[in-house]
Amino acid sequence: MEHHHAESWNIDHAIDTYQIDRWGDEFFSIGENGHIMVHPCPGKDIAWDLVEIVNQGLAQDLTPPVLIRLPGIIRARVQQLYAAFAAGREKYGYRGKYTLVFPIKVNQHQEVLDAVYASGVSVGSAVGMEAGSKAEMMAAICKADNHTPVFCNGFKDDTYIELAVRAFQLGRNVTIIIEKPHEIQMVAQCVKRLGVCPRLGVRVKLAARVSGHWQSSAGSNSKFGLSTSQLLEGIDQLRALGLIHRLELMHFHPGSQINNVRHIKASIIEATRIYGDLYKQGIPLNTIDVGGGLAVDYTGNRNTEPSSMNYTLQEYANDVVYYMQQVCNQMGVPHPDIVSESGRAVAAHHGVLVVPVLGAVQTNRQDSLTLTPEEEKIPPLFELQGNLVELNEDNVLEVYHDGQQAVEMALQLFANGHMTLDQRVKAERMFFVLCQRVRGRLEELEFIPKELQELSQNLAETYYANFSLFQSLPDNWAIDQLFPLMPIHRLLEKPTSQGTLGDITCDSDGCIVNFVGPNGKRKTLPLHPMQKDEPYWLGIFLVGAYQEVLGDYHNLLGRLHVLTVDADANDRMMVFTRRGTVVSEALELVNHTPEDVMRGVRSMIHSAVSDKRVSTVEAQSSSRFFQRLATEYTYLTDDLDAPSEVVLTRAVEERVNGTFANPRVGALDFVQDAETNGDVEEFVAIDG
Ligand SMILES: Cc1ncc(COP(=O)(O)O)c(C=O)c1O
Repeated sequence: MEHHHAESWNIDHAIDTYQIDRWGDEFFSIGENGHIMVHPCPGKDIAWDLVEIVNQGLAQDLTPPVLIRLPGIIRARVQQLYAAFAAGREKYGYRGKYTLVFPIKVNQHQEVLDAVYASGVSVGSAVGMEAGSKAEMMAAICKADNHTPVFCNGFKDDTYIELAVRAFQLGRNVTIIIEKPHEIQMVAQCVKRLGVCPRLGVRVKLAARVSGHWQSSAGSNSKFGLSTSQLLEGIDQLRALGLIHRLELMHFHPGSQINNVRHIKASIIEATRIYGDLYKQGIPLNTIDVGGGLAVDYTGNRNTEPSSMNYTLQEYANDVVYYMQQVCNQMGVPHPDIVSESGRAVAAHHGVLVVPVLGAVQTNRQDSLTLTPEEEKIPPLFELQGNLVELNEDNVLEVYHDGQQAVEMALQLFANGHMTLDQRVKAERMFFVLCQRVRGRLEELEFIPKELQELSQNLAETYYANFSLFQSLPDNWAIDQLFPLMPIHRLLEKPTSQGTLGDITCDSDGCIVNFVGPNGKRKTLPLHPMQKDEPYWLGIFLVGAYQEVLGDYHNLLGRLHVLTVDADANDRMMVFTRRGTVVSEALELVNHTPEDVMRGVRSMIHSAVSDKRVSTVEAQSSSRFFQRLATEYTYLTDDLDAPSEVVLTRAVEERVNGTFANPRVGALDFVQDAETNGDVEEFVAIDG
């Protein structure tokens, strides 16, 4: 619980509350104006206001929710990785070189691969790409040039292997990594047929196990890789097939988001021993690919919790280099080149989700506190009224307990027929107000007992935001992963509510109830009360790895609008836009073709006109509405009616004047319908 008084609230308190200095690295900060600032190119004096970026999207009619992509951050992360390995190699006198091979499954979007490819310029060597399927391989070889290392990984069929071999034949720098014993024969056949053989690698299963969500990616029962005995058999096979001279790389993958650096050390030592042994058998290995696993500190807490990590990028690089060097020196084998397939660590920071809050379920009702003379005779109501008056700094816990007892008594009396429903509700409301006042007093206490700490959580308001957890933040739903979340503006104002976040899917799982807190997870997030007619935008950060491609189309809520924001040659902001999924595209995903859908609409309108359910003017208005709807964003938008105002106004006038008499729906009904939908103001405005 933060102890900040409204009058003394300042940016430092906001930093404290949301810990942006811990998870934001040098990429995000809070500006003087209380908005989040983005620093897309560390080392350069560039700071962009996130609110301004969202407004740039709005200016192009791309209303939030939007995904903001910052390719500069990808380039910066790649540079940091290379710099860390360069420092580690220098420190330990390591003679092999380092290359990043980006696993594109983490985020295959064009803009991401462009940024990864472009980062090669600043690190002075080609940055590679790793593919895990035919489609990914196509993307990788098309983005690559002939220097870019392209790794062919994952489950393979003959076509996938042929794709890799043909790309090699055409000049691409391809390595096929054998993950299963039967792939050796498949590769041999293809190589024989096409007459060329790319560089080969082999993935081994290590005995070293890691902890965390992805622990099954490693260890002897993991899905991928050759066991040590399969490895030796495979090597014999490659020898027999005359392909052993192409086996240059040994790969392992210890799992993703490895929180504890100790597990990385253990994997490196075991893998390098295997490498050294094979090298001494005369196999021309020259590279160890240490896979992924380099974690991201989503909470900034630097610990071994699942969404954090207890080491830095530099410590990771130092450890990889140091232990490889140690083992190689002991075994008397040359230092191999090092490849890492760091995906999350490269891509996570570059993606920011901005979601508009639609409203909050306001729980701070202060009404109905006065009791009627009759209610005053009912003990629990009378007692609750007394509790509200008595509460002070010295009796907080005691009065809270008294209130709990009174409300329990009220429920008993109601169950036994001695209180009416109205009276029970009044007791519940009074207790609720008491709880709120108790919570308001907590800041004055030196020590907050546990049950009062939990009170905050129980009183949290649900903020509803225009997004889908399933589409945009699947790992929060699936594996409880934490992502930093905070308002992107109003940070000079003390957030006086505690909230959780609900999305717009019809799914009770579609809510965020775990947030980044100073000691790990917190159950509620300090948020601001909504202000009438003012947007309230929340940023969800570090979403650039895995989330976009793991996301699904629950409720047919589709991909978000994307704003790719980068600096031009003069460090000015450039914004490229990509529209999100529209209704007809979402329907097509589940095989409702636009033709089918419009046929359905036409048929509905045709029958309504034939039955005289609607006038021609109304039918025309509906027809235009449905056509427009097909091209609308799948998320909530609020200006669907705008283009057909004239038509609608005419229709309303006809109804109100009675010039169009409909046997089934009267004019009055229509206006009432509009009223309940909150549309009536719009009609009046148009009329006027
Ligand atoms: C073979 C392989 N390489 C690399 C990665 C990327 O891992 P990370 O995102 O932890 O860097 C993965 C993902 O799990 C993987 O399976």
